[in-house]
Amino acid sequence: MNLNSQFVRMMRCPSSGSALVFDGQGLSSCDGANCYRVNASGIPLFAETLCTEDAKRQQVHFEMVHAQYLENLGYPHTQEYMAYLDDAFHKVVSDAELAVTAEICCGSGEAFRLLGRKVGSGVGVDISASMLDVARHFLRDRRYCFIQGDATNLPLNDATFDSVFIIGGIHHVNDRARLFGEIYRVLKPGGRFFWREPVSDFFLWRWLRALIYWLSPALDEKTERPLLYGETVPVLTQAGLELKHWETHGFLGYCLLMNSDVLVFNRLFRYLPGIRALTRLMAKLDGWTVRIPGLRHAGLIVIGMAEKPKRAQS
Ligand SMILES: C[S@@+](CC[C@H](N)C(=O)[O-])C[C@H]1O[C@@H](n2cnc3c(N)ncnc32)[C@H](O)[C@@H]1O
Repeated sequence: MNLNSQFVRMMRCPSSGSALVFDGQGLSSCDGANCYRVNASGIPLFAETLCTEDAKRQQVHFEMVHAQYLENLGYPHTQEYMAYLDDAFHKVVSDAELAVTAEICCGSGEAFRLLGRKVGSGVGVDISASMLDVARHFLRDRRYCFIQGDATNLPLNDATFDSVFIIGGIHHVNDRARLFGEIYRVLKPGGRFFWREPVSDFFLWRWLRALIYWLSPALDEKTERPLLYGETVPVLTQAGLELKHWETHGFLGYCLLMNSDVLVFNRLFRYLPGIRALTRLMAKLDGWTVRIPGLRHAGLIVIGMAEKPKRAQS
């Protein structure tokens, strides 16, 4: 088993904050107080002992649903709609040099796979070892390292990352103040935080989601909380991050064609002739809908970016 020393230097003990050394078996904190196992896939397990209740719930949940979760992303309509959202995400990231990047709640390494060569080196953090195994399977490149850890107590060093990404993870973390505080801590001054998340500012989506979360056995109701603009921005600001971008996407088309994990009937759309072209059309219509003045905050998904000020103290 090998753990690149460049990556070990980016990590820290989540309990004491002290630097770590790799002895070929596991990672020990330099103050001698803590040791962390590294599993057979080379993934350090920082959350075996130190983990919040929310993170534990998510761990249990994703260990159970990871296969179905990934299968749902494989339907033709889901792929077409995701391609539309990926394109929108690329436009926000633009040509920025991402350099040293962290993907938090990385799951299968979605952001790293999307951003490809723009990432100089990448550390992916997730609470579920099974999801991390999937990420490792997709991203064997030596530019990447994956670790098991809690997003609200990151085993990552201060002021180390040029960019931080979260795709579909924020809404699973109830303690957003700690989450954003950790992102601020690990970003270098001038570093940028990008996200793509469910948002429920439009009353219809708020009601529908509340009903679905309550009814669906495929979701863990206690750790599903889509973003709200009025709630998120003050917490970002409090953490020291400056909001630079907030743009919503997805309307009726998204509602109907995505979410195959809960809207089980829409799995059958894969057999519909022309479903790919129809999905592209629906995505375009959704795009126009949420550009109508008065509906700009009415989308189901938000793509956002916030910056750590250049003169920020670490
Ligand atoms: C909806 S999935 C999205 C992951 C990724 N974007 C993908 O598609 O593979 C959410 C991920 O967040 C992770 N997660 C939830 N709460 C977490 C926490 N407190 N710390 C670290 N990871 C967490 C889950 O294990 C899961 O892999």
